Amino acid sequence: MSFLHDSIAPRITEDDGSFRTKMLGIASGMTNVIAMGRGDPDFHTPAHIVAAAKKAIDENQHHYTAPNGLPQLRSAIAADLKKQYGLDYTADEIAVTAGVQESITLVMLALIQAGDEVLITSPRFTTYDMAVNLAGGIPVPVPTFQKDNFALDVAEIEKRITPRTRMFVLMSPNNPTGAVTPPDVIRKIAELATRHDLIVVSDEIYAKIIYDGNEHLSIATLPGMKERTITLNGFSKTYAMTGWRVGYLAAPADFVTRLTDTRHTLSINTCTISQHAALAAITGPQEPIEAMIDEYAARRAYLLPALDEMGLSYGNPGGAFYVYINVAGTGMSTPDFCERLLRETGVMLFPGTMFGDHDPSYIRMSFLQPLPLIKEAVERMKGFIARHKEAAA
Ligand SMILES: Cc1ncc(COP(=O)(O)O)c(C=O)c1O
Repeated sequence: MSFLHDSIAPRITEDDGSFRTKMLGIASGMTNVIAMGRGDPDFHTPAHIVAAAKKAIDENQHHYTAPNGLPQLRSAIAADLKKQYGLDYTADEIAVTAGVQESITLVMLALIQAGDEVLITSPRFTTYDMAVNLAGGIPVPVPTFQKDNFALDVAEIEKRITPRTRMFVLMSPNNPTGAVTPPDVIRKIAELATRHDLIVVSDEIYAKIIYDGNEHLSIATLPGMKERTITLNGFSKTYAMTGWRVGYLAAPADFVTRLTDTRHTLSINTCTISQHAALAAITGPQEPIEAMIDEYAARRAYLLPALDEMGLSYGNPGGAFYVYINVAGTGMSTPDFCERLLRETGVMLFPGTMFGDHDPSYIRMSFLQPLPLIKEAVERMKGFIARHKEAAA
């Protein structure tokens, strides 16, 4: 190991990426791979958004912006949060960041001190663990269960609260389960957070992608909650804009203003051209976005009965574009399941253990491929499951 490697501070923790690397290595030697594990929409960014970016380049929008973002973008975000979710934020209560990802790091650095415990909805997007560790805090997973379609149970949160608990991270709809926490549970979480004086981080990046009349309730709309909540949202998923890197945090103005210098230290500002693209995304025609969401709904409507037919159970995903599937009946551990499925059929998925799940029964499947490819993946999986169920019996 090099001198510099040995000098790394303990706050720099490592997410074990060895299984992903192994899978990608196997896939690179195959020609028939269908990636059903991705978290990146298969659609291209809608044309009017791309055109706005090109226009920004042609009009010499090549310079720094204010650290918290273009004023017109912050105003548009505030208006959108009001219209979509009934949230009351003004432009000076928004900070635009490089994806929600940068907001997560910023928020943890700002609020978490050494030894603070952060409760996180689990299974989970494990960036939260990395960011909490970076700030010197301790991530504490709050499990959710298939019997509840992976919706949060307030009792599971409450029994993990200690005198060191500082924050609760709510992720609804969730990655990797697609679970939408119902409004009555959100209300109970608000009551709990108030009673225990907790900060709430509400990651709502999938909030526009909701199915079957499920209801998304933004916790900061509830009485007394805005002052203790940071609402996170962004453009990556809804607008198929992952590579543009635009997200934001919304919180009371004095907090956002106080973070400006730290936000500046991280990256000065979010890419100016991408901010112009984001402005077009939020203020322009919404039909292309609705069309993408309709397509996800159609894929989901095909996929869930197909899983039923294979005899696989799952938590019904009320939102996002993932389904969290129980493959314990095949008798294989999930890393083993994923590796064999890839080698034998070319279908690539990842185990729930990569999302911090301690129950090794689950895999995350996304529906971010065109329907004919999803159908092809399902056909291949059917044969695989049947063969291995027979072998296990
Ligand atoms: C729950 C959740 N939050 C945040 C992110 C990060 O998104 P962004 O591209 O906005 O940084 C992701 C990406 O997969 C996610 O699933």
